Order: sequence, then C-alpha cells, then structure tokens
Amino acid sequence: MIPAVLFVAVSGTVFALAKLHLARPTLASSGPVQLGDFYNGGTVFSQTCAVCHGADGRGGKIGPKLAGTPITLARAKAQIDAGGSVMPAGLVKGQQEKDVLAYLATIMKTQ
Ligand code: HEC
Repeated sequence: MIPAVLFVAVSGTVFALAKLHLARPTLASSGPVQLGDFYNGGTVFSQTCAVCHGADGRGGKIGPKLAGTPITLARAKAQIDAGGSVMPAGLVKGQQEKDVLAYLATIMKTQ
C-alpha cells in the first residue's frame, strides 16, 4: 500500500514539473498581442533595450539583432515577460510593453 501511494505522489510531482517546464513555450500562443503607440515604443526601446540590442535593434554586444529578424510578436512578448539568459524578465509592462511591441512590429520581420 505505501509504495503505491509513494508512486502516485512521485509521478504526480514529476508530471507537475513536466507541465511547468512545458508551460514556457506555450506562453507564445496565449491570444493576440495588443499593440500600443510605436512612436513612444521607439523611445522606450532606445532607453531600455538598445543598451543590449543596439540602436534600432540592429544588434549589440549582448543582445541579438532584432531588426529584420523573423520573430512573431507573441514570441517577442513572451521573451519580454519571461526574460532569457541575461535579459531580465518584465523590463517593460502594461502600456509601455504594448508600445514597445508596436515598435518591434516596425523593425522585426513579424510575417
Ligand atoms: C541586459 C541586456 C538586454 C536587455 C536590456 C534587453 N535584452 Fe532582449 N535579449 C537579450 C539577450 C541576451 C537575448 C537572447 C536571449 C536568449 O537567448 O534567451 C534577448 C532576446 C530578446 C528577444 C528574442 C530574440 C529572438 O531571436 O528570439 C526579443 C524580442 C528581445 N530580446 C526584446 C527586448 C526588448 C523589447 C527589450 C527592452 C524592453 C530588451 N530585449 C532588453 C538581452 C537584453
């Protein structure tokens, strides 16, 4: 009896962990991405993102080139929300994030 209970507990934990892990990529498919004001977004980008991604997202020493790069807006939003490697999570939120995404839509190749 005890081993069966243990088995359920362990496999339950493993399943939960597996689900947590899988939850990250699905962030990218969580509904349409709302866009704000691209002009303001450009200002936010140059103040917050260009330090790593270069002026106009043309690539910097730390962050990858964004200009002309094929990335969906959902993917970009997921990256902004969750961060990745040295990119901090949640650098911009709410209206500022919408504005930055509107700006990214003008420089990235968002298909
Ligand atoms: C501290 C440096 C840094 C800052 C600041 C930064 N990023 Fe990044 N960014 C990175 C790095 C490094 C990566 C690659 C991360 C990875 O491989 O997971 C990245 C990846 C990305 C990607 C995904 C690129 C791809 O090819 O999938 C997007 C989109 C992005 N950043 C947008 C932004 C935006 C918008 C801002 C400003 C709000 C920003 N970043 C600020 C370092 C930075």
